[in-house]
This record gives sequence, C-alpha cells and structure tokens, in this order.
Amino acid sequence: MKKRIMVGLLVALMATTMIFAQGAAEAKAESNTLEIFSWWTAGGEADGLEAMYNEFDRQYPGIEIINATVAGGAGTNAKAVLATRMQGGNPPDSFQVHAGHELIDTWVVSGFMEPITFVLEDAGYMDKFPADVIDIISYEGEVYSIPVNIHRSNVMWYSPKLFAQFNLQPPKTMADFFRVAEVFKANGIPALALGDNEIWAATHLLESVILAHTGPDKYNALWEGKVKWNDAQVRSALNDFAKMMGYINRDHAALANMDAAGYVAEGKAAMNVMGDWAAGYYYSQGFEQGEDWDWVPTPGTSGNFIMLSDSFGLPKNAPNRDNVIKWLTLCASQEGQDAFNPIKGSIPARIDGDRSKYDRYLNAAMDDFASDAIVPSVAHGAAISEPWLTRINDIMSVFVTDLDVDKAITEFQAAADRYAPK
Ligand code: GAL
Repeated sequence: MKKRIMVGLLVALMATTMIFAQGAAEAKAESNTLEIFSWWTAGGEADGLEAMYNEFDRQYPGIEIINATVAGGAGTNAKAVLATRMQGGNPPDSFQVHAGHELIDTWVVSGFMEPITFVLEDAGYMDKFPADVIDIISYEGEVYSIPVNIHRSNVMWYSPKLFAQFNLQPPKTMADFFRVAEVFKANGIPALALGDNEIWAATHLLESVILAHTGPDKYNALWEGKVKWNDAQVRSALNDFAKMMGYINRDHAALANMDAAGYVAEGKAAMNVMGDWAAGYYYSQGFEQGEDWDWVPTPGTSGNFIMLSDSFGLPKNAPNRDNVIKWLTLCASQEGQDAFNPIKGSIPARIDGDRSKYDRYLNAAMDDFASDAIVPSVAHGAAISEPWLTRINDIMSVFVTDLDVDKAITEFQAAADRYAPK
C-alpha cells in the first residue's frame, strides 16, 4: 500500500503560502494527488476514512491521497481553516461538509461549488439514494455533494453494567431520565456524561431535549422561525436542559465528546447523549454492545430520528478535478459506503447497503431510519445556517453554566429573528 501523506493544519497553511508564491497557474495544474479535507481524526472516524482511502487506492493505484485533517469535533476548527482556504482561492480537492444548510447556504449559494449531478447520473446512482437525501444536497435542481453516510444524533448511550447494578431500566421519557439520574447521583455516579470542551456537544444534547418536548413538527417549525422560543414546550425543554446540568460530570468543560462517550463504556458515568460516531469510537476501542455499552433513543424521542449527513463536493478550481470525480464516484458507490460506514458508526446514505457488513446497532439504525419521523440536526449543519448555529453555540457556552432560562430564551429568539429564513 502507498505511503499516505499526512498533513495537519500547519502544513496546510504552509502549502497555502507556497501555492500563492508559485502563482495560480501552477497551482491549478493537475497532479497525481487528491487532497481530501476533513475533521476525522478520532478513533472510528479516522479508521473509516482510511478504509475508504484503501478502496480508492485499490481502484486507482497511482493517485496519492493527501489526508488533510484538522482535529476538532463537529468541524470546530476545520470549518474556519476551510473558509480561509476557500476564500483565499486555495480549495482542497474535496472537503467534508454537512448536507443541508451548511452545504447550501455556506458554499453553494455563494457560488463556490460545481454542480455534480452528472457524477450520480454517469454512475447510474441517481435512484440509489432516498429522495429526501437528494433534496438536501440539491439547489435549483442540481446536486452539489455526495452524501457518504447518515448519522443519528438522538442516541443515548448507556452503561448496561451500571444500570444492572442499580436494577434500573434505560429511560424512555424525560421523567424516567430524572428518576434514574437521581439514583445515580445519590450513589455518587455522574448520571450524564457531557464532554463539552467544544460547546457544540451541549447544543447536540439540547436538540434532543427540544425534540422530546416539541415533537417533530414543532421542532421543524422552530428552526424555520415559525415557532417562538417562549413557546411553552420549548421553555420546558430549556428548563429540563438546565435541570440535566445538575447530573453531569464535574470535568465536563475539559472533556472531549468522544471521551464522554468513553466514560459510559468505562463505567465512569451512566449515560451520554451523542451521535453514533460514538459507536465508531466504541468499535475502535474494542468496547462491546450489551456488555460495555448499549443504546436507546434519547428520552422522549422514540420514533424520531434526528439525522445528519457527511458529504463531499467539488469546489470550483479544485486542483485535481478529474481525481475528485473519481473520489466522488467512490463516495457514492456501494463499495465505498460499505467500506466506510461499518467502521465510522453510520449507516449508508444509499438504500442498498449490505446489511451483513453492519453490526447490531447499525442494523437497528437502518430500521429506524426507514420507519421513523426524520428531522434534521441543528448542531451538525442540517437544519440551520452556520451563522445561526455559531450564535446558538455562543449562547450555549453561557447557558450551561448560568442556567438562566429566561435569558437564554431572549437570546435564542434574537438569534432566530436575525438568522431564521424569512
Ligand atoms: C459531526 C460529523 C461526524 C463526526 C462528528 C464528531 O459533525 O458529522 O461525522 O465527525 O461531528 O466530530
């Protein structure tokens, strides 16, 4: 296997400088490389990406992949580096981007991307994706990215050992949650692991708590700006969120999201709400479902699936356009998706994934995706634009410590007034 070139932030910045120094003409010359930009550095996700690279190597030996990663969950740091590169005329060949508002509002409407409907059409894949998924990667009738997966946001990971020890059942409702949380707290065990050293993890939790109170229709209406934040159900969600903060681990503000998921598998905390990249993390660490971890939909959200999708597109002026088209075709293929997702902890965006390659958890996620009410994730770019999400994350940074519900409602409403679609 070829040696993979690993580049981090520093090298990417150096490359930027060099390319400018060499002049645009030279930068645009096609080479036998393919630079793929993502934030997949953690256990599970880095391995899944590597599996897809290996499949690419197999199909296109001779093209060298440059693995340009910028660490930080949910793209905390990567998105800023990407913006600098795109605005500086130095796009990576292809980059990880969330399907939905993040893709369309940030990159497509502003004219940075090439339409790539032809990639799906040429490969005969147009009908291999659900219509709703095609919809969120499309703008004015053209497809702008290839979704490699579907992740679920509203998952509660729990420790079967701790629940058995105290003879408790995993919570189905918010009331159940507070009942079991009390028992853990009384026994000196953090009921809920939170790893919000990057604040998006708190926003991630919040979207599930809102859905639990509003149900899917009002949840959607809230993100469309049609429901006010002082709505009684939204307010009770914020009240519950504030109450939940009474049951979290002391070190939450210093802890990364994957480590919080790890706390559950290590028996250091009873529950954690995180997307199913946590499953990918568990696989990578050798933690076993049923033994070290298990899952339920987040309390009050059974029958609903908060979805997000990672996708890759073709920036205008991508240095190696032909190689990108090969990459995108692989991303859209069954082999590509079935190499990546069983390791990543996500389900294929395609409808024809080979279920035998996926574990028990992912098979259940596929069943739920096929039958649940699907709503878009806020914390991961599907439901709202990036400026709105950035503002929500800022509000959350304060709310997780001051727990001032009235103030949060006022601020969330002001953000909605400013950023919600008119
Ligand atoms: C999400 C992304 C996932 C995973 C997660 C944690 O935004 O869609 O694939 O990377 O962040 O970093």
